[in-house]
Amino acid sequence: MPSASPFKRLPTEGGETLSIDIDGQPCVVDARWTVAAALIAHGRAACRRAIDGQPRGPFCLSGVCFECRVGIDGIPGHQACLTPVAQGMKVTPEDSPEALP
Ligand code: FES
Repeated sequence: MPSASPFKRLPTEGGETLSIDIDGQPCVVDARWTVAAALIAHGRAACRRAIDGQPRGPFCLSGVCFECRVGIDGIPGHQACLTPVAQGMKVTPEDSPEALP
């Protein structure tokens, strides 16, 4: 579920880009970004749900809160804020239909 993000992307000039897949959608991202930055830039401020159903997403962006957990290449529980993007990476937010039981 895309949501409005309070973050605004700064312009990048001539930076290297690569392609990743976020929840089945191909996305071009800056090669210097983390997965959390890619999620936010592509409107995925929420990437999982708390036990009460509330949407959760990257909060501290420094590896402390664990609110940014996502699946990467089929392996759940990665901290998106600590994981650099990589060409061809498949990111599955934990609230996606694919990741839900
Ligand atoms: S945003 Fe807090 S651990 Fe990733």
